[in-house]
Amino acid sequence: MCGIVGYVGKQKAASIILEGLKRLEYRGYDSAGLCVLQDGRLDVAKKAGRVEVLAKEATRHRFNGTTGIGHTRWATHGGVTDANAHPHVSSDGHFALIHNGVIENYAQMKAFLSGKGYTFRSETDTEVLCNLIAYHYAKEPAGQNGTNRFLESVRKALDHVEGTYGIAVLCIDFPGEMVAARKASPLLVGVGDNEYILASDASALINRTQNVVYLKDGELVHVTPAGFTISTLDQMDVSPVVDRITWSVADAELGSHAHFMEKEIFEQPQALENTMRGRFSEDGSTANFGGLNLSATELRQIDRFMFCACGSAWHACLVAEHLIERYARLPVEVDYASEFRYRNSPLDRNTLFFVMSQSGETIDTLAALREAKRKGYRVLAINNVVGSSIAREADGGVYQHVGPEIGVASTKAFTSQLVLGAMLALYIARLRDMSFNDGVQYVNALKGAPELVRQTLRQAPLIKEIAQRYAKHADFLFLGRLSLFPIALEGALKLKEISYIHAEGYPAAEMKHGPIALITEKCPSVFFVPKGEIFNKIVSSMQEIKARKGKIIAIVTEGCELPPGLADEVIPIPDCHEAVLPIVATVPVQLLSYYIALALKCDVDKQRNLAKSVTVE
Ligand code: M6R
Repeated sequence: MCGIVGYVGKQKAASIILEGLKRLEYRGYDSAGLCVLQDGRLDVAKKAGRVEVLAKEATRHRFNGTTGIGHTRWATHGGVTDANAHPHVSSDGHFALIHNGVIENYAQMKAFLSGKGYTFRSETDTEVLCNLIAYHYAKEPAGQNGTNRFLESVRKALDHVEGTYGIAVLCIDFPGEMVAARKASPLLVGVGDNEYILASDASALINRTQNVVYLKDGELVHVTPAGFTISTLDQMDVSPVVDRITWSVADAELGSHAHFMEKEIFEQPQALENTMRGRFSEDGSTANFGGLNLSATELRQIDRFMFCACGSAWHACLVAEHLIERYARLPVEVDYASEFRYRNSPLDRNTLFFVMSQSGETIDTLAALREAKRKGYRVLAINNVVGSSIAREADGGVYQHVGPEIGVASTKAFTSQLVLGAMLALYIARLRDMSFNDGVQYVNALKGAPELVRQTLRQAPLIKEIAQRYAKHADFLFLGRLSLFPIALEGALKLKEISYIHAEGYPAAEMKHGPIALITEKCPSVFFVPKGEIFNKIVSSMQEIKARKGKIIAIVTEGCELPPGLADEVIPIPDCHEAVLPIVATVPVQLLSYYIALALKCDVDKQRNLAKSVTVE
């Protein structure tokens, strides 16, 4: 939540920062602002609204300085107003600061600073931190022992902070310099050609450099035109490690698509291929997961799995639960990361703990990981963003390799998590009772998944028509069973988050225990109807809806014969292996939500109240 960009170099900072903010807007879009240090002053432009509103406002300033910071906000403390937009400037005019996170003890600090004569223009926690830095700067008039006074004031102020932060700070007395720091909010430094770009994530700087340094929690970076140094809060020097981003600018751009969500839905065949590449054994009977850092012997000692995640990733864990239990015959528990961290649930010694997170920065998932590690568990991660906090803190794991996911609604990252869950089930199953032949069949099915997704995407025109017919309905039910129950949850979440339509996901048979009361001709049900043992049971549930005049949109595997007239709409999906079915069945609900949101003229990439990566509790 909130996007941060900073620039120190030889080019004009404002346009580079605005470009970076546009690319980070998916992290928050309540307001945006920038500050350029030029002609001995901190020139600030900030506005409630999107980055384009800021860009217009910026034309009223003569921004020509080469050092600056910018921010796009997802509001926490204080409403969506110009005054609450970042950057904030200290009341003595010395410092400008941008912040992603929450300063939990801001009220005490504000009272203290008010007593010292500092004043406040906003309702934010951030402005308090900015004034606290100014207070420490004023208190220590000269840099002690050759230290940099600017850097040390930031360090001292952060010593008093409880909460989370990714910050970047400018000081009027230090032109061409910037200090930034992080605790539980992501921050990286792009090392460009005679320039340094600070950002919350790589998409903001990928157009200028692919070389980056990921800051760790408790680290500060001091950037000057000559270079940068990293140190810890307790003044230890850190040697920077420069990593290379493997994806390119085009991956973070729309190309010919109208929205990132559309782009990412249609990228799924390629994304699945990228996720699976190099991860099958030579004999084609199992998966390879080098990154788990566990030997086959160690894995055989595991007798239970625990998964923690949030949102769509939690749904993907539920599918993994189904497949691991079915194929590897081991019990699996799945918990919301936000619940697990406070629930103190008993875990036994041979439990293998997994977290799943596209961004790797979701604060609840990170906290669940830390809680499990604190209890002495080895924690593995399934994660997309290389170098993320979760990737760094986990004891091992698997990268999704789907490139940046920019649309706030997760699509390609979700199906890639599904495929990794399926591969994990295979891997464990083959270490236990699954035969070579069953393994080969399973692997071949997974290898065929991208093509089946491609075929399903060809239903887009049909799904668009259906979406247009149903867009005006205020409530939807999504109903599925077994591994498709989590996909029903995912379908309902997609519809809610991008079109603001009330939707609920249920196990199809559970519907008659309550949700059936919602059924009228105005509340359509989306049913997943796969071939196999539960086909007749699902048809019975559909009959119960039909008897109450409920409309039915059925997502049906090819070869299934539904009773004539039972479904009002039929979306066919290819018949496939059980491990692939959830992946293929996801595509129609992604498209349905996308086209309904378009019909309702919703902003599908930047929905009301949401942000891509939830880095506050
Ligand atoms: O980055 P993460 O996978 O940890 O994100 C978890 C959720 O915030 C995320 O899946 C969210 O539910 C999406 N908006 C769903 O589309």
